[in-house]
Amino acid sequence: MLKDKRILLIIGGGIAAYKSLELIRLLRKAEASVHAILTSAGQHFVTPLSVSALCEARVFTDLFDLTAEAEMGHIELSRAADLVVVAPATADLMAKLAGGLANDLASTTLLATDKAVLMAPAMNVRMWTHAATQRNLVQLIADGVLFVGPDEGPMACGEYGPGRMAEPADILQAITAALADEAVRPALVATSTTVPVPKPSPLRAESLPALTSDALQGVRVVITSGPTHEPIDPVRYIANRSSGKQGYAIARAAAAAGAEVTLISGPVQLAPPAGVEVVQVESARDMLNAVELALPAQVFIAAAAVADWRTAATAGQKIKKVPGARGPTLALVENPDILASIAKRRKDRPRLVIGFAAETEEVVTHAKTKRVRKGCDWIVANDVTPASGVMGGDLNTVHIIDNSGVESWPKLAKEEVARRLISRIGDYFAAH
Ligand SMILES: Cc1cc2nc3c(=O)[nH]c(=O)nc-3n(C[C@H](O)[C@H](O)[C@H](O)COP(=O)(O)O)c2cc1C
Repeated sequence: MLKDKRILLIIGGGIAAYKSLELIRLLRKAEASVHAILTSAGQHFVTPLSVSALCEARVFTDLFDLTAEAEMGHIELSRAADLVVVAPATADLMAKLAGGLANDLASTTLLATDKAVLMAPAMNVRMWTHAATQRNLVQLIADGVLFVGPDEGPMACGEYGPGRMAEPADILQAITAALADEAVRPALVATSTTVPVPKPSPLRAESLPALTSDALQGVRVVITSGPTHEPIDPVRYIANRSSGKQGYAIARAAAAAGAEVTLISGPVQLAPPAGVEVVQVESARDMLNAVELALPAQVFIAAAAVADWRTAATAGQKIKKVPGARGPTLALVENPDILASIAKRRKDRPRLVIGFAAETEEVVTHAKTKRVRKGCDWIVANDVTPASGVMGGDLNTVHIIDNSGVESWPKLAKEEVARRLISRIGDYFAAH
């Protein structure tokens, strides 16, 4: 699979640089050729000599190196590869690429390349969860950069959390997948959708490997996501600003953790997540039907922004504008409460029912009340005032409320919120 593939490996300045030596060994064993760029910080952790000995090729370290430029200029170096891999990807390298900086050989090469870039981030948990790094992550995903890891666990600095570089074997697997990406994608997009599957955008955000583990192996998870559309007449509807990004990210993270996932989605502009069954619906009533059909499941996550009301009657024909006449009055009736009806089921109630509370004021207080009123186990509360940028944006600040209290998370990429939520669900199943 990797035979004769050309990998350009950029090694950044982090403790995990020692693992990149093992990655080179695995790549060479798979008969790939490896050229390496070692940043000046990277040279504090591994030596150019050991990297070049393992690559069986010279190592590039300086942008302004006459000999290297004469042998193979930095532009040629960036183009000669089939894939550029950054491992460890430091917070600094992520920031430079997200910001378009090119002030050393590694960052200049990353900007000059016309090939796919795969990053394996490695850093202290606080650095990883910092709003700046999360912003850069979102930007890089949007720019089409692929990611593997980071993993969660004890760190060299003594702290615990996400930020450990993925294991070399997992990076090798991600390299293989990235190189075979176009070939495998159709098989991975398993969907029962009845509308045309949007062509995966060049952003390739759907191939971001989330928490890859077996924490939810064999667990069936049903997730709702996106808005609902409540018809007024054949061409008009009532909707809301939900983008579906958070629910889709949760579906990706659950599938990556080994769960069997059904995602019931309102109308959104997102590619179906790989390895997830997607059921497309329009209205709240359709969504409830689809959820009931998807049960039994051990986990139900209601991330959709379901319309509270629908029109009392739907006009069979387009309502005509009559010049000079008063506009029509819309009579509204309440929609079914999907979260409460699943949480209060006697038969087939999922073991864990998780709701979302989108609030614009007193977020935690209202969400606490909602948890009790709906009868769900956890509520994920978020502030959706326009100033928060949550609706439609890529970041989210959430509070997880259960019967023992409130856990507030910092502002994170929605992908990271999803990974943490799935990790918390994995812990719950391990403990119960
Ligand atoms: C002992 C030590 C360990 C470090 N580990 C990391 C790390 O794991 N991840 C990271 O992003 N930065 C780490 N840093 C900070 C980077 O080395 C620093 O930001 C450097 O400028 C990165 O340069 P580069 O991105 O060009 O490799 C570490 C620094 C020291 C002194």
